Amino acid sequence: MNDQTLTPEERAANLKGMGCARKRVEDVRFTQGKGNYVDDIKLDGMLFGDFVRSPYAHARVVSVNKEAALALPGVVAVLTAEDLAPLGLHWMPTLAGDKQMVLADGKVLFQGQEVAYVVAEDRYIAADAVELVEVEYEELPVLTDPFEALKSDVVLREDLEGQTEGAHGPRKHHNHIFTWEQGDKDATEAVLAEADVVAEEMVYYHRTHPCPLETCGCVASMDKVTGKLTLYGTFQAPHAIRTVVSLISGIAEHNIRVISPDIGGGFGNKVGAYAGYVCSVVASIVTGKPVKWVEDRMENLMTTAFARDYWMQGKIAATKDGKITGLWCHTTADHGGFDACADPTKFPAGFMNICTGSYDIPTAYLAVDGVYTNKAPGGVAYRCSFRVTEAAYFIERMIEVLAIKLNMDAAELRRINFIKADQFPYQSALGWEYDSGDYHTAWDKALKAVDYEGLRAEQAQRIEDFKAGKTRKLLGIGLTHFTEIVGAGPVKNCDILGLGMFDSCEIRIHPTGSAIARLGTISQGQGHATTFAQIIASEIGLPADDITLEEGDTDTAPYGLGTYGSRSTPVAGAATAMAARKIRAKAQMIAAYLLEVHDDDVEWDVDRFAVKGAPERFKTMKDIAFAAYNQAIPGLEPGLEAVSYYDPPNMTYPFGAYICVMEIDVDTGEWEVRQFYALDDCGTRINPMIIEGQVHGGVTEALAIAMGQEIAYDDMGNVKTGTLMDFFLPTAWETPNYTTDHTVTPSPHHPIGAKGVGESPNVGGVPAFSNAVHDAFKPFGLVQSHMPHDHWRIWKIASGLGMHG
Ligand code: CDP
Repeated sequence: MNDQTLTPEERAANLKGMGCARKRVEDVRFTQGKGNYVDDIKLDGMLFGDFVRSPYAHARVVSVNKEAALALPGVVAVLTAEDLAPLGLHWMPTLAGDKQMVLADGKVLFQGQEVAYVVAEDRYIAADAVELVEVEYEELPVLTDPFEALKSDVVLREDLEGQTEGAHGPRKHHNHIFTWEQGDKDATEAVLAEADVVAEEMVYYHRTHPCPLETCGCVASMDKVTGKLTLYGTFQAPHAIRTVVSLISGIAEHNIRVISPDIGGGFGNKVGAYAGYVCSVVASIVTGKPVKWVEDRMENLMTTAFARDYWMQGKIAATKDGKITGLWCHTTADHGGFDACADPTKFPAGFMNICTGSYDIPTAYLAVDGVYTNKAPGGVAYRCSFRVTEAAYFIERMIEVLAIKLNMDAAELRRINFIKADQFPYQSALGWEYDSGDYHTAWDKALKAVDYEGLRAEQAQRIEDFKAGKTRKLLGIGLTHFTEIVGAGPVKNCDILGLGMFDSCEIRIHPTGSAIARLGTISQGQGHATTFAQIIASEIGLPADDITLEEGDTDTAPYGLGTYGSRSTPVAGAATAMAARKIRAKAQMIAAYLLEVHDDDVEWDVDRFAVKGAPERFKTMKDIAFAAYNQAIPGLEPGLEAVSYYDPPNMTYPFGAYICVMEIDVDTGEWEVRQFYALDDCGTRINPMIIEGQVHGGVTEALAIAMGQEIAYDDMGNVKTGTLMDFFLPTAWETPNYTTDHTVTPSPHHPIGAKGVGESPNVGGVPAFSNAVHDAFKPFGLVQSHMPHDHWRIWKIASGLGMHG
């Protein structure tokens, strides 16, 4: 069949546009081992860097002796803070308005902190030389508990001593960073004082780590002839890195080219700037040779950006029939030795003020205190928009605690308090305008899908059997309804280091009707090359298979703020649609000229413009593309390309209903996920198969976090979980089956109605798993217990409840 005889539906299907479960185009490369990662980059004469790191969590650096290391054949240089100081590079700015030592300057503040950088002819010599650098330390008292840190006389940040103002306002103590307040404190306290019922609990979301399979790394290559620095790296925001490198090194921005090649997972870990990048650039400038630095697993886990570590004290007020009247939260945020959190500038605790969740809570107050401790810096959004997973965990635990206090079914308590569909756009008490949602429909669909009533009946029988000594296994039903906030963001209130958080897409149509699109984002496994081509295919009627997508090269891609916080689809996806629409608008003029009618007399039909009322007279996008390059159309420039820099008017608010059914053995603390149901609403769905993959991956990371994954410290500040023997990373063995489902509530302000999805499963998954554990023990008196719920901690719950006889 040719184009003339295909129906519009058949022509649309041939495009593989939005809604199509198109196979990932990236996978041909990845499944054949043909990916091109940082460690695959090999340049002539390349040198290798490695760090001398502190074994102590808090110590004065008395001396560093490089002599033995420099004497080792093959060692080219050993850099210390003294070498970087004349260049002003011994400290670097953090994303949170603080500064951080690149190499230890007088003291160290966390175990694993970078003390010296060894450069050698190969990776093994560098590692050997690290052992030969002699560092004399004088141990100092260690503070790993943020509550203790706020009371202690020990000054962690001596460089800030006497400084009563920080980047985010007044500091109350020498180990205090900031206080961030949102909402109405007095009104919330008045509501709490008058409420029928108030539930109060401390909810701790422990310290964990994104742990991407590929660790962080870079190759810096300074070409002394052209004066151009090329920096390859595992960067989630290549343009922002280029600007930061230019600002701190003084190299003009046009002389810096940043390239993010294939990235093996980021999950927030690769947003920030690390000492390895700065040292590699300096080493390349000094030696005139390319320098590669790639972390090992322990370095990644112990020193690069952690996530969470929020102590959230909550109070929730309600009427006796369950209508929530107020929410109060005070969070103590452990930021480690430097405040290097990756949040938009005006949000030092990220979007934690989404903590009213999916509920219509009229009055609320949130305060967050940031604190320095002797732990690694970071505070990234590990597969969540900025601090949203903390917020969702907090509210979903508080709902469960309130349900216990009210003696009410937690599913019903949620239903009573959901924001109703006709309340959108909804103004939350803590300052957000939720764009769209239909929570009741999603909730009812989820409860029905798992046969919620049947499960509760089974659970009641199980409790009886347990009490009668017929079983030692409990059944937990973990409920969650979450609301995400993704797509940072409107430039008016979201920036990082002063760079507005817009994003961009440039599309060029070639004469023969194929195209290349370049974006300011960078995929780390999310499949952008597949899905963004689908948006273009639907918008301009060229097959997705004929569209190449390119990201991550600052010399070719338009400026953008990168990929994290599920912002790619809400922001760069919108830019893609808008650029495509500019192309279609020009194509309409060309089509009208070719068809010899007025512009207004042609109409769009899947992949062509046809004359209104005469559909047999048309020009396809392919015809139009060719004409754009070979016909001199009066008043029009040749060519067919467009660029869009998109500043979103609002965030998007994806949501979901997750239910976990878990069996728990009270004698061993072992758990088994019997069923996991995940309903996501991310508005218009671009690629259902990729969405499903995103949900599977995100729920698996949530399983890890809730059930075992943590960065744990002892009292000396030693990291106890610095290897994958101790840090729980689920394999296929531990990963349960998931059932995915969806509803579709488009975003009213996004050009194609899409919301982000990549991080929803982590945001919704963690409370679902944790609530299942709590729910299993609830009939025996458990109210609150801290994650991660590993076997030992579960055994301890059972023991504490007197279940071991
Ligand atoms: O920013 P990031 O790519 O991590 O997250 P995202 O914007 O949520 O997108 C993750 C993947 O899911 C991308 O390939 C998206 O295009 C795809 N997606 C989709 O197919 N439909 C949506 N409504 C949202 C995302």
